[in-house]
Amino acid sequence: MELNEALYTTRAMRRVKPDPIPDDVVARIMDAAIRAPSPGNTQQWRFVTVSDRDVMAELGELYGRSWDRLNETAYAGRREAAAERGDDQTLRVMSSAGWLAANFAQVPLAVLAFTRNDVDGSGIYPAVWNLMLAARGHGIGATLTTVLHNFAADEVAELLGVPAAKGWRNAACVTLGYPLGKWGVADRPPVHEVVYADSWGNPPAWQAPDPMWSY
Ligand SMILES: Cc1cc2nc3c(=O)[nH]c(=O)nc-3n(C[C@H](O)[C@H](O)[C@H](O)COP(=O)(O)O)c2cc1C
Repeated sequence: MELNEALYTTRAMRRVKPDPIPDDVVARIMDAAIRAPSPGNTQQWRFVTVSDRDVMAELGELYGRSWDRLNETAYAGRREAAAERGDDQTLRVMSSAGWLAANFAQVPLAVLAFTRNDVDGSGIYPAVWNLMLAARGHGIGATLTTVLHNFAADEVAELLGVPAAKGWRNAACVTLGYPLGKWGVADRPPVHEVVYADSWGNPPAWQAPDPMWSY
């Protein structure tokens, strides 16, 4: 796959088929993940790939509860406010995220990324993004999720036997599967609206009203 296609179309693909992902593909995705940079090349990461149906069912239970908690707290009123202002994009994300919460147990694979001694939590995300790009290259959809560690970190650690006392903390749970939907270029406000040149607020010399790569 061409690099730009992967960069522009690696989206949150929550709706996936239950079809299993072959082990050799999982191996390739994870091998690409650990090629990522890390602070001082310390590689303070461990990954747990979960495909066992019973473990996924238990994770799904925790995920569903975490999603409910998010909706009761940080996301309280979000759906209603979006509907009121006609914000279809937010409504679509909420609906898609709700689908994942309701169907987590039938997702074929989840990869939980753990880190330690990571001062600001930034050290693991290049690997997580490598993982998602590599999955995209294999035609596999992925979604980076964080609700589990925000609302059920201890339960997840216990379920997976994580040595939390040694400092390992969950930083992301990536769900993966063959997509039910179609790939598309990520819709964002034009890039020149969020990039400044030399000082804050100073517009760059260039403009790009539309994505600079498309199918
Ligand atoms: C740090 C981070 C945390 C996220 N957490 C969740 C999550 O817990 N659940 C979920 O369904 N999506 C989650 N997402 C996915 C975003 O909602 C998604 O990437 C965003 O809406 C943009 O959509 P797109 O990737 O399809 O363009 C997360 C994304 C990031 C980068």
